[in-house]
Amino acid sequence: MNFKIPFSGRAHKYTQEEKDVILEAVENAVPLTQGKYQNEFQEKFGEFIGSEYCFAVNNATAALEMSAQLCQFKDGDEFICPSHTFTASAYPFIKKGAIPIWTDIDKETRVISLDTIKKCITPNTKAVVVVHLYGFIIPDIKEIANFCKENNLLLIEDVAQAMGTQIDGEKAGTFGDFGVFSFHSHKNMTTLGEGGMLVVKDKKFANIIPMLRHNGHCGWEIERPNYWTPAMGNVDLPMLNDEYLMPNNYCLGEVECALGTKLLDRLDEINAQKRVRAIRFINELEFSNILSFHKVNTIEHNYHLLVAYVNNNKRDEFMQKMSEEKLIQCVVQYYPLNRYDFYKKLGFGKADCPNAEDLFDNMVSFPFHHMMSDDDFEYMLKSTKEVLEELK
Ligand SMILES: Cc1ncc(COP(=O)(O)O)c(C=O)c1O
Repeated sequence: MNFKIPFSGRAHKYTQEEKDVILEAVENAVPLTQGKYQNEFQEKFGEFIGSEYCFAVNNATAALEMSAQLCQFKDGDEFICPSHTFTASAYPFIKKGAIPIWTDIDKETRVISLDTIKKCITPNTKAVVVVHLYGFIIPDIKEIANFCKENNLLLIEDVAQAMGTQIDGEKAGTFGDFGVFSFHSHKNMTTLGEGGMLVVKDKKFANIIPMLRHNGHCGWEIERPNYWTPAMGNVDLPMLNDEYLMPNNYCLGEVECALGTKLLDRLDEINAQKRVRAIRFINELEFSNILSFHKVNTIEHNYHLLVAYVNNNKRDEFMQKMSEEKLIQCVVQYYPLNRYDFYKKLGFGKADCPNAEDLFDNMVSFPFHHMMSDDDFEYMLKSTKEVLEELK
């Protein structure tokens, strides 16, 4: 179908200044990876987020993979994870041997909570993955962090969609042991399609991540009379808790890092512009009781995505009218992970998550990329009103 408003695979455009930064790095970066632009990006990201240890990586999945490695799971260890999330929130932990226990979302906020987590705790729980989904910071993230600390559980915050959101001045990604960010093409800030950041609290993790990220490369500790011998660089990943970890190559290129540093200046503005649009959309559709939105007009939500629950079993009719009559490509997101064949075949097909199932079966996600023109946004608003009138 040729959509007038597609569900775009790209979130935003670049300003001339941002394009100049890209060109400057293309011209001057030596090397093109692991250099000064990476250091600058990590430093500025740390100032932005309020965290000491930040590591640029090639995407959020790589950051999740390293978090999973650093959890050092043993046989039988479990991790709690929402079933209503993107697949990469979960499989890196399974890859490292942990068993997922799917937790439900809250009906109203559409994210997990301390209550839903507590229902999944067993003596085997080792870690909790929370996902600030749709761009909404989990309201009781502080309480979740305290609970995890008291119970000796590692907390991983998947902030792929919610960068810049905060509660009481504390940003998403700074509450857990690990904070994971994405600069993928869809996200409110993208470093040319791929990119991510891993933020950690513990110095013990911070010391090992640069080597874990880059093939185990490190310097020589021995005195070397000739710089060329025994070899250019050393490979000697230190042990963590008396265990060897296998290294990876998850570095982010210098051009992406240079751009990321520049984009940090604009992220709050992008988030605010998306929030203003979202609130207007929600307010103007309040006349109809067919769509239920989660309305949050504060810095707690960046409206990475704009989703609604479609009441009265009218979801498919709504989607059909929006696509066929209005040529607007709404989508349905976050198939409960336990329903995918992949997870079923692994033996993780069971979940007690009625809210996640119900939301998925009745939800709609509107095209909501930042680069949508004002004309297209007005067209989508007007068209949605018309469809809602028809569905009355
Ligand atoms: C909630 C969530 N977690 C993780 C990821 C993975 O991000 P990346 O594509 O940067 O690996 C995404 C990306 O869509 C996501 O939405």
